[in-house]
Amino acid sequence: MGGWAELLDRIDGCRLCGLCGERQNTVPGEGDPNARLMLIGEGPGAEEDRSGRPFVGASGQLLEAMLREIGLNRRQVYICNVVKCRPPNNRTPQEQEAMACLPYLDTQIDLVKPEFLLLLGGTAGRYLLGPDARIRRDHGQWFEYRGIKAMLTYHPSAMLRDERQKIEAWRDFLALKERLNNF
Ligand code: URA
Repeated sequence: MGGWAELLDRIDGCRLCGLCGERQNTVPGEGDPNARLMLIGEGPGAEEDRSGRPFVGASGQLLEAMLREIGLNRRQVYICNVVKCRPPNNRTPQEQEAMACLPYLDTQIDLVKPEFLLLLGGTAGRYLLGPDARIRRDHGQWFEYRGIKAMLTYHPSAMLRDERQKIEAWRDFLALKERLNNF
């Protein structure tokens, strides 16, 4: 795939999996195309589907608050998801949906060339780090994806459901901040 224009065009007209049938909008991602940090979630929810923007609902607000605490705002990072169309009832994307969409994410990573990836939740962990990734065991540790340092942490919607996960994710964010400031 070529540059941004081609990528966004392809996502816009994508019919590679069944998720295209129910979408209102594709949600390609947004932020600084030269960001040092790229955040990767699972897939759009209802508000993201309506607006065409990633992480604009309740989990997006928590994500923004956590970013703020480490001195960043959403315009300074690049935010996207494993799948670009909303799975019905916010179910987990199926493997064939994630695999169909992954080349778009890979192209985004290659275009942004961030120094760090923050993988939000098990779906991002599974498709970028491999099926053996386990969020409870592996969060906060550094891995590599496409030659880029990648940290796995909890998904903000899981943090909203479980205060302990929020506390653990908070530690991960502080470790990430340390890395961003010393790299
Ligand atoms: N959850 C995600 O994984 N991504 C979004 O964009 C919104 C909610």
